[in-house]
Amino acid sequence: MVIVFLLAIVGCFFGQGAAQTTTKPHILLIVADDLGWSDVSWNNPNVVMPNLHTLATTGVIFNQTYSQRLCTPSRTALLTGKFPYRLGMQTTISHKEAHGLPLDEELLPQKLKKLGYATHMVGKWHLGSCKWEYTPTERGFDSFYGFHHGGEDYYTHMSERGLDFWDGRTSVSDRNGVYSTESFARRAENIISQHDPNTPLFLYLPFQSVHTPHQVPSSYLQTFSTIQDDNRKSILGMATALDDAIKRVTDALKGKGLWDNTLTIFMSDNGGNYVQGQSNWPLRGAKGTLWEGGTRVPAFVHGNMLERTGYTYHGMMHGVDILPTLVSVAGGTEDAGLDGKNMWQSISTGADSPRTEFVYDIDSRGERYAIRVGDYKLIKGTPASKNDWYAPAEMQQMGILTEEATDDTGPFLFNIREDPLEKSNLYNAVEYASIQRAMRRRLKELKPDEVPFPDLADDPAADPSNYGDVWMPGWC
Ligand SMILES: *[C@@H]1O[C@H](CO)[C@@H](O)[C@H](O)[C@H]1NC(C)=O
Repeated sequence: MVIVFLLAIVGCFFGQGAAQTTTKPHILLIVADDLGWSDVSWNNPNVVMPNLHTLATTGVIFNQTYSQRLCTPSRTALLTGKFPYRLGMQTTISHKEAHGLPLDEELLPQKLKKLGYATHMVGKWHLGSCKWEYTPTERGFDSFYGFHHGGEDYYTHMSERGLDFWDGRTSVSDRNGVYSTESFARRAENIISQHDPNTPLFLYLPFQSVHTPHQVPSSYLQTFSTIQDDNRKSILGMATALDDAIKRVTDALKGKGLWDNTLTIFMSDNGGNYVQGQSNWPLRGAKGTLWEGGTRVPAFVHGNMLERTGYTYHGMMHGVDILPTLVSVAGGTEDAGLDGKNMWQSISTGADSPRTEFVYDIDSRGERYAIRVGDYKLIKGTPASKNDWYAPAEMQQMGILTEEATDDTGPFLFNIREDPLEKSNLYNAVEYASIQRAMRRRLKELKPDEVPFPDLADDPAADPSNYGDVWMPGWC
């Protein structure tokens, strides 16, 4: 009896030990910046991204995955598993604002570290950097190579008048003149080549591409020589450059023998900004808005651990679901208090989504409110200023023109399943009065959880001229 019991303990111990080193998947989480619905090849044949295309079509394409309307809130949702309205993170943090992702949140890399992962980040942070405590290596990443702000020059790595490029706590000054997409791919290759294959790897790759400024090596523009609009041409070039960089990363994983056990998730942080040449066609609106074009993002998952692949998943999903899903894949248990749902069973088999509602935003400072419950979406306040259906330049050249909205002022009620393009406002339709009331009630129930984004003045202490023209954390 005792011997059997002891054997069971020993077996269990060794069994788990072996499982930890060999079966936990490596996780590659790639986030593109401002890449719109119509800026990916699986939604628009004019986009050239052969590597991502293969990964998407041999994985599972997500057709109803949502994010937030802007960078800071999207990244908040991803790394906390909570809707940003509950954390005072509804809008972007500016360089001189003493604000950051609340320090009492346990982030995805911290959770994965506890589960035995090596955790590395390459790319854009944008979750606060006025003090070191807010920055990636203090928040669960073993290493960080990239920038803290929302955007910067791809070659000089200057954000306005200061350098913003970091390797941990050291500012990087030896990459002036090198395209960031290239530097980030190179760093990812180095991390992979030095990685101990017995340790599960979490590599978070939030690329700078395809955010403005419009900078891309000229070789990428040749493919798009028939496109007359210069902004559109560079965005398409940047998308292809991103694709090439991702190929370098997946090739490195293959070379190291890690690829067969790697789960890759790709998504954009928010919709594209049509003014800058990105496109969310045929969805309505753009980056910064609560319309579908601002929030419904291109995304897919790829990996051998998926039971079913090569199809489009139509279930409802949100960026907050990434954390609990990855934690479960990594062998962890679900935490209480998250907004995110563990989607693993659904996305790996194609089963119905456990998600039935989500919050687009509750932002009393911006007077912006929108929720989704079932098929319905309620928008109150100001969805934003970009309310139309913006055709990308290549379609305009073929005579498909931007469609202007006649109903710019809310409130709005849409049936998103039947009307994904948000063309027919049901808010005042008699037949929908009870749905409209139920949606308003739900919004009212959620509102008390809001932590407003703080109203902060720019702090002159942040100015890079105080620190040798570097955007140095530590002034708040
Ligand atoms: C994805 O959703 C959009 C909007 O509802 C729809 O137009 C499109 O056909 C869907 N794509 C696929 C592959 O089902």
